[in-house]
Amino acid sequence: CGIVGVLGNHEAAPILVEALKRLEYRGYDSAGIATVNGGALDRRRAVGKLVNLSDLLVHDPLPGKSGIGHTRWATHGAPTVGNAHPHRAGGVAVVHNGIIENFKDLREELAQKGITFQTETDTETVALLCEFLVCEGLAPIEAARKTVARLEGAFALAFLFEGAEDLMIATRKGSPLAIGHGDGEMFVGSDAIALAPFTDQITYLEEGDFAVLTRNSLEIRDQRGAIANREKRQIQLANARVDKDGHKHFMAKEIAEQPVAIDRALKAYMGDDGQLSLPAELDFTKIERLTMVACGTAFYACMVAKYWFEQIARMPVEVDVASEFRYREPPVSEKTLALFVSQSGETADTLAALRYMDGKAQQIVGLVNVPESSIARESDVILPLHAGPEISVASTKAFTCQLTILLLLALRAAEQRGLPLPDGMPNDLRAIPGLIHQSLAGEKQITASARGLAEARDIIFLGRGQLYPLALEGALKLKELSYIHAEGYASGELKHGPIALIDEKVPVVVMAPRDALFDKTVSNMQEVMARGGKVILITDAEGAKIAGDGTHEVIVMPQVPDSLAPILYAVPAQQIAYYTAIAKGTDVDQPRNLAKSVTVE
Ligand code: G6P
Repeated sequence: CGIVGVLGNHEAAPILVEALKRLEYRGYDSAGIATVNGGALDRRRAVGKLVNLSDLLVHDPLPGKSGIGHTRWATHGAPTVGNAHPHRAGGVAVVHNGIIENFKDLREELAQKGITFQTETDTETVALLCEFLVCEGLAPIEAARKTVARLEGAFALAFLFEGAEDLMIATRKGSPLAIGHGDGEMFVGSDAIALAPFTDQITYLEEGDFAVLTRNSLEIRDQRGAIANREKRQIQLANARVDKDGHKHFMAKEIAEQPVAIDRALKAYMGDDGQLSLPAELDFTKIERLTMVACGTAFYACMVAKYWFEQIARMPVEVDVASEFRYREPPVSEKTLALFVSQSGETADTLAALRYMDGKAQQIVGLVNVPESSIARESDVILPLHAGPEISVASTKAFTCQLTILLLLALRAAEQRGLPLPDGMPNDLRAIPGLIHQSLAGEKQITASARGLAEARDIIFLGRGQLYPLALEGALKLKELSYIHAEGYASGELKHGPIALIDEKVPVVVMAPRDALFDKTVSNMQEVMARGGKVILITDAEGAKIAGDGTHEVIVMPQVPDSLAPILYAVPAQQIAYYTAIAKGTDVDQPRNLAKSVTVE
């Protein structure tokens, strides 16, 4: 979820909506705002995308210059108007990002006092508890302080009070929160980007901070209650609104931008002379083990990188999804490098895993697309992706930039460890933008096969070696966008179970460049065809010549050096998902139930 707040000199509603637009990557199940106007607290809420709230505000405006707002990714309670934020109890309104873990206990306690609940949310409990304390006679600031002290879990909260037009409380524990300083105005946002149209003067709250805002003052107390001096920084943020640039969807635009984005990433980390230019603090001679942690698509980038680091740099690598890693309590040695990969830099699980490793005094490297993000701020070394803003929920150009930079890192590790680089590396990487450009031209054929795929109920993706994570990514993209059940498997694993699913109704997408493992994958593909499976083979011209017979379709890719195949084969995986979603008529850029970055665990 995303939260915003303003104590301003202009109408708050348009400001809140504009800021919320920039936070929609955190969820879009419902949205709402509350203001205080002439002392009176009121709110407007709508289910679905933010545009529904904007429409509602046209017919039913909400005046007032002080307000809070929220865009939701549902955790407790369905995405209904009643469950939408801001939550209100009497004269208290609250917006919340995160989860209050002890809300049931608090609810019970309040119920015993005769207090009744309108919603199923954990957030309403916060509003009710605060209102209860206000009714007991506490002033708003004290009531909020006492309320927050009772909360367990991870949260960022903003409070607004009836009768108090120049007061807002903002507090965080676990979830990030930024305060923006205006000229006689004050802003609150889940990230600084949300506030970019209004101010570039930002103070980030730290863990446990409790901030009291008025238009002209900000008082922050730390978790012990002592006054805390938090730095005010000027941040560099492009204010320009990102648009689709003539494409039908952000995803189409972002797929098409990959040659430019990768070129930018390469230039950032590699000189014209082919020398790698990576931060000097990254010293792989001192490292015995690499731990990579991420979620979703970024996790698959880490899985590919495991092959590279092991094969090229001969380094032991551990890769895990953040939600598992953080609770596994893995033992760590001193000589581990911990690498966290995240497009947004705000994914709660990845952030928590980072903090676990930070607590173990590990060197933390963050590979993120948003340089002002929480993961970037908490990393020792930041490697920006340089992908440019990625708006579509499904990650595309950030993924291929992640892969590109991870490959450069593996090459650097090999160099530092005195190992020879694979033939043609790293210079061959420069060919990637051109090759992607070439493969983007295969769009027409993919559009045609996507129409067939859109009819399927289940689809299987197969790959071997470095292409195995790509099979997983292909399946993830497809299910995210088209809601068709899809699974990715290591092609050698097919015979150990998933082959039972194969019949003429299940399309099988096989990703197999003509590399050292090609013949093995082709054997697995034959096993599928022998059982009536409909194979769509993605390979190069040579591969098509050898193995194209008997397949349902062949998608021909440009020839590519082995280590670069995962970067190039990401493109047909993205296009298949995109065009299947178009054929099904789903919401490509904002698929149901998802958020671009999930900020709760
Ligand atoms: C969400 C998105 C995925 C994304 C994952 C990790 O689940 O829907 O597309 O891969 O978060 O996001 P991050 O910003 O950490 O890369």
